[in-house]
Amino acid sequence: MDLGLGGRRVIVTGGSKGIGFAIAETMLAEGAAAAICSRHADELEQAVQRLSQRGKVFSQVCDVTQPDQVQDFITAAVEFMGGLEVLVNNAGRAHPGTFATLTDQDFRDDLDVKLFSQIRCSRAALPHLRAASEAAIININAIYGRQPDPSFFATTVDRAACLALSKAQAMEFGPDGVRVNSVNIGFVRTPQWENIHQHRAPELSESEFLARTAAGEVPLGRFGEPEEVAGLVAFLAGPRASYITGASIDVAGGMGRYV
Ligand SMILES: NC(=O)c1ccc[n+]([C@@H]2O[C@H](COP(=O)([O-])OP(=O)(O)OC[C@H]3O[C@@H](n4cnc5c(N)ncnc54)[C@H](OP(=O)(O)O)[C@@H]3O)[C@@H](O)[C@H]2O)c1
Repeated sequence: MDLGLGGRRVIVTGGSKGIGFAIAETMLAEGAAAAICSRHADELEQAVQRLSQRGKVFSQVCDVTQPDQVQDFITAAVEFMGGLEVLVNNAGRAHPGTFATLTDQDFRDDLDVKLFSQIRCSRAALPHLRAASEAAIININAIYGRQPDPSFFATTVDRAACLALSKAQAMEFGPDGVRVNSVNIGFVRTPQWENIHQHRAPELSESEFLARTAAGEVPLGRFGEPEEVAGLVAFLAGPRASYITGASIDVAGGMGRYV
């Protein structure tokens, strides 16, 4: 199926690895141009080397918690690509911890990376998205925003706010032709999980840790792969999803005990 992404210009925050990298790679494979950012220049450069085999890529070091860096990155990316139709707010991190262990500062930092990054990237991209004939924002969130998990307490609280942000953005931006959807991740195998593995059970092999984590939690019985998220994001980015906005879609192998 042609997703109609040929010629579209896409920004993916946090595109150097994991889910963001897979999204950028899929967008390029579908004929779009892509711009990615992350904080570490070496990893960004390695990602660009791999992605440029697929198509036109722009990259810039940018920390999405820094408003000036966000504005600079989006301005430079739009200039390089000649416009913007799609923003994927993907940059983020896992932040395990319970209510008892997390400080106020932990909550503030996590809100900054998750909620405020989506707010400030959307704000910087919006004039360009409004100027496009058809545009989309895809916010990468977590099912913990819908199904609280006290062992990821900050994620639980902050992703709930992100889901509200997505829905309200869809309502406010709809009249301008900018669709906004949320893609909620369950367990997807990325470098983020290497950290959680080391934090929680360094004595287990990675595959054993992932298998035990998925068992009993994920109806499909396994972790997802980044490409399994990227397919949905590419679909939501293009004209095949032209009547889908304000949606909150889980990519979680059936996780999520709610209807
Ligand atoms: N994997 C999962 O199971 C899972 C579950 C729920 C939600 N998610 C969400 O999905 C998104 C992608 O996660 P992932 O698993 O692919 O993580 P990952 O493998 O750790 O990749 C995260 C990407 O974001 C970048 N990043 C992190 N903080 C940043 C910052 N402040 N400014 C700019 N870039 C930043 C990272 O590069 P640098 O570190 O170099 O900046 C990297 O490119 C995140 O928002 C995450 O919270 C993932």
